Parts: sequence; structure tokens; C-alpha cells
Amino acid sequence: MTIRNEPLRAAVLGATGTVGQRFVTLLAEHPWFELTALAASERSAGKAYREAVTWIQTRPIDDAVATMQVQTIDELMDGDFDIVFSALDASVASDIEPRFARRCLVVTNASAHRMDADVPLLVPEVNPDHLSLLASPEGGPILPEGRALPAGIVANPNCSTIGLVLALKPLADAFGFERISVVTLQAVSGAGLPGISSYQILDNVIPWISSEEEKLEIETGKILGRVHGGTIEPAEVAVSAQCNRVPVVDGHTLCVSVDLKGEPAMEDVREAWRSFRAEPQERGLPSAPAQPTVYLGDDEPPQTRVHRDLGQGMTTSIGRLRECPILGYRFVALSHNTLRGAAGGALLAAELAVARCGRRGAR
Ligand SMILES: NC(=O)c1ccc[n+]([C@@H]2O[C@H](COP(=O)([O-])OP(=O)(O)OC[C@H]3O[C@@H](n4cnc5c(N)ncnc54)[C@H](OP(=O)(O)O)[C@@H]3O)[C@@H](O)[C@H]2O)c1
Repeated sequence: MTIRNEPLRAAVLGATGTVGQRFVTLLAEHPWFELTALAASERSAGKAYREAVTWIQTRPIDDAVATMQVQTIDELMDGDFDIVFSALDASVASDIEPRFARRCLVVTNASAHRMDADVPLLVPEVNPDHLSLLASPEGGPILPEGRALPAGIVANPNCSTIGLVLALKPLADAFGFERISVVTLQAVSGAGLPGISSYQILDNVIPWISSEEEKLEIETGKILGRVHGGTIEPAEVAVSAQCNRVPVVDGHTLCVSVDLKGEPAMEDVREAWRSFRAEPQERGLPSAPAQPTVYLGDDEPPQTRVHRDLGQGMTTSIGRLRECPILGYRFVALSHNTLRGAAGGALLAAELAVARCGRRGAR
């Protein structure tokens, strides 16, 4: 076994895509992880990253990364790295990710393994204990004065589900609920590259996103569930989801109704969001926002352009709490889909896994 001092060497799979570019940007200045390898499809392999990528971020590519050579997945398999971040299409992730997960921790945004019994579907503020599903590796990195970094797959949930469960977790802890109705307004970056054509999305709302409603409805119960007998016992919650693609670049908006138990006062509901803190905040993890949920106000709805970057894109902003004649309460939430909903959320998950077995982030 190797004893690793900081930083841990990170490889990114799917590095040229929408989410892969976010990983590249965030890893450029990450204090614990150093980007050492990039992989994408055969179309990109063999090229310098700058030549392979259609760069869509607002800040330029880091100079050191721009000249790195993009590798194929097979080439990368033989490389030296401690942790893998995956931004692959689900269609290819299904076979590729388990190969890497035999030797190290793989934190993925793809949906391929999200519902596997031994895979934590992790939102670090919501279900940190689900990390206990991971196995210890043979020959994996040992963190200084700590235990081995576990091997296996940790999955990021669907990008809309992440915003939903962050808004719901304080309510689950304080009151409980059984039924949720959610209507989403989802950004075009959620469709990846090259994405939806401008002719399809400008001056339009598309009230259908393939498999998205099913993901919201199934994943929520697993994330809010509890570890029991080495597996996850899903929470008994019925979710009705309707998903829409709208002409917004980044940021998914969620209009939510929920049947909170015990008929709580409106101020108690607001306070649950305002006071919510969890393990990532207590440990001071590098990607943890000071506040995972912010209540903006009864008359101040979260707006994509104005609020999506709160907490470096890691905070879920909430507003317009009011009574719902059907389920009791309703509100609007907003979450950044490629930061909290993808690369930022995956980095936070990896930081939590590292902090739980090493000294880093010690209180
Ligand atoms: N966009 C979001 O907001 C979001 C949020 C949460 C989760 N996700 C999930 O995250 C994953 C990536 O999404 P994205 O939006 O970044 O997609 P994307 O823009 O389409 O990027 C896909 C990436 O996968 C690579 N790839 C495709 N086929 C491959 C193969 N056979 N071997 C190796 N690499 C291959 C592509 O490389 P080339 O450039 O070489 O083709 C590209 O780097 C998906 O599973 C998606 O569902 C996306």
C-alpha cells in the first residue's frame, strides 16, 4: 500500500463534456486533489485538451491542463491515480466505471449505477452515512495517519434530485412528510454537449426530458432512506415529478408542494432551511458552502441568473413559501445543475470520503 501525502492524484473521465469541463475548472485550484489525467472518447484521444474540447466555461482553460494529452479509457486504466471523477455518458459508464472501482474510489455523475444496492447515492449534507456501503480496497492509497481511502462507486444523484433533497432534508428532519409534487424548469446545460439546438429551445418550453421524472421519483426515496443490514432501506415517500426544459443556460428551478406532518407554523419551516448545517459544514470541507440552503424570503423567488451562483454554486436557494390547498405547503427552490448538481457535488462527496478516513477536515 502507498501512503499518500497531499494532493491525491485525480483522473477525469469524460473530461471534454459539460460536466468534465466543470471538473477541470474546479480541480485547477483544489487544495486536496491534483488533476493528473484526462480521458474522453476515441474522437478526442491523442489530442491536447485545448484541441479536443469545445470550451464553454467563462474562465479560460488552465495553462497546465490545456496542453495535457487526452487519453482513451484503456490507456488511462494503466495510469497512476488515487481517485477517479466520472462525467461519462451513462451508456458507456455502465461498463467502464466498475473497472476503475475495483482499484480506487470512483465518484460519478452518470446514472448507470445510481440504484445499485452497494452504491451510495450521495448528497453529503443529506445522507453522509450512506458512505458506509463502500468497501476497503486492497492496495489503495492510505491517507496520512488515517485509514485507506475506500474503493467502489459513489454516485451523484440526478441534478434536479440534488436540489430537491437539499430543500427537503431540513423538512424531513424537523417535521417529516409522505407526499411531494415537483415541477422542474431545467437549464439547457443539463442536456450536455452539443445539447439542444437553438431552433428547438429559443422561444420555447419543452415539457419532457427523457427519464428525468423517473429519476426524481426513484432516487429521492433512496437518498432519504437509511442504512440497514448493509443496504439502503428507502424512505416511504411518494414523489410526482413533471420536468420541463427551458431556455436558461445553468440552474434548475423546482416548484415543490409537500404534506409536512404536524401542521408546522410557517416560521418554523423557514427556520428549518435557515439553520440547516450538516457534516460538510462541521468539517469545513473545501467545497462545502457555509449554508447548504438559504431562504430568500416570502416575496423573493430564487431566479436563475441572480441566485444560481450563491455559495459558489453549491447553495440551494429557496423562496415563496406559502400554503398549498392540496398538500399543505409549497415553495420554489433553485440549484446549479453543473456545480452542485454535478462536478461540485462530486468533489464534495470525494472530500467527505477522504475526511472520514483521514485527518483532513478534522474539526
Ligand atoms: N450536464 C448536467 O447538468 C449534468 C448534471 C448531472 C449529471 N450529468 C451526467 O453527467 C454525465 C456527463 O454529462 P455531460 O452533460 O457532461 O455530457 P456531455 O457534455 O455529452 O459529455 C460526455 C463526455 O463523455 C465522453 N464520452 C462519450 N462517449 C465516450 C466513450 N465511448 N468513451 C469515453 N468517453 C466518452 C465525451 O467525450 P468526447 O467529447 O470525446 O465525445 C464527453 O467528454 C452524463 O452521464 C450526465 O447524465 C449531467
